[in-house]
Amino acid sequence: MTSRYPLKVRAVEWVNGKVRWINTNLLPYEEVYEESADYERIARAIEAMEIRGAPAIGVAAALAIAATAFNSPANSVDQLRDVILKAIDRLRRTRPTAHNLFWALDRIKRVSLEQHLDLEEYRKAVVDEALRIYREDVETNIRIGEVGDRIIDDGDVILTHCNAGALATAAFGTALAIIRVAWYRGKRISVIATETRPVLQGARLTVWELVKEGIPVKLITDSMVGYVMYKGLVNKVIVGADRILRDGHVVNKIGTYVLAIAARRHGVPFYVAAPTSTFDLNSTVASIVIEERNPEEVRRILGKIPITVENVEVLNFSFDVTPPELVSGIVTERGIIEPPLNVNINRVIGGSKSA
Ligand code: MRU
Repeated sequence: MTSRYPLKVRAVEWVNGKVRWINTNLLPYEEVYEESADYERIARAIEAMEIRGAPAIGVAAALAIAATAFNSPANSVDQLRDVILKAIDRLRRTRPTAHNLFWALDRIKRVSLEQHLDLEEYRKAVVDEALRIYREDVETNIRIGEVGDRIIDDGDVILTHCNAGALATAAFGTALAIIRVAWYRGKRISVIATETRPVLQGARLTVWELVKEGIPVKLITDSMVGYVMYKGLVNKVIVGADRILRDGHVVNKIGTYVLAIAARRHGVPFYVAAPTSTFDLNSTVASIVIEERNPEEVRRILGKIPITVENVEVLNFSFDVTPPELVSGIVTERGIIEPPLNVNINRVIGGSKSA
């Protein structure tokens, strides 16, 4: 794929009928690429967060189905459809919160349920749809970067949380796409990255990506957020999203909500960057599932060094919900959605096939 910006990191790719991904659990210590055509292996990679970040999860799931279709020994349309529907079902059960997963699998399912008279034509239709999802993700992220560039001023210090970068998408990122485009266009910006306990996506992944780009970055612990804003060290906050509801509630990495509260308290604009595939126009705050992960993630640093009393009870919510009144705007590939979000999300996204 060619691009008008350098794509230095490709988190998920399609290579000769297989899915190739960078194992984000091993970063920044080792840059290891995994490859598989087995949807079960890819489902486990999503569960274990080798592949993580809402758009990357969606793309990987779509490509896992493509690899299944591409390599299947099935000798009839019905046989192949059975295998594909089983794979879709398995992948839907990997992680519950990122909307892009369900959006991508629903797109593949729609194609799969169309009438196909010929096995090879059916196989190709599934692979083509998955590759479209993959390519659209890269193009969409570049658009988010270009659209979002207008919120960035020369000299800005931008605080970001978790990793909404290339490593959370097929390439280029969402929040980090805005930072990349501003940087490529010559704005003298810098970034403050939160470490993002307990999986440390900020410390391990965001810092790794920004250092690779040469974009200045300072790492802070999550609990420093209020003080750095109090000190006037932050001009803007930009985060990604796992799911955005019709009324403007933003579901994102745990810690986003307190970040938004601190930003409002200190008059710092709080932006969300996300593709339209992250918008869920059908759910309510009460009906969404916030993933709760293994308590060991909190009890040990990166599954290794214990930091507390063995078996202490733990709460490990992986995401939280930021209410619309704390959000200054949502940068999408279709433009910036400004408050009131409940009105403007409907206007920009409502009724489209993306959501
Ligand atoms: O648990 P993760 O690492 O999958 O969570 C990722 C996030 O919360 C990101 O901010 C979100 O998926 C947006 S990524 C472009």
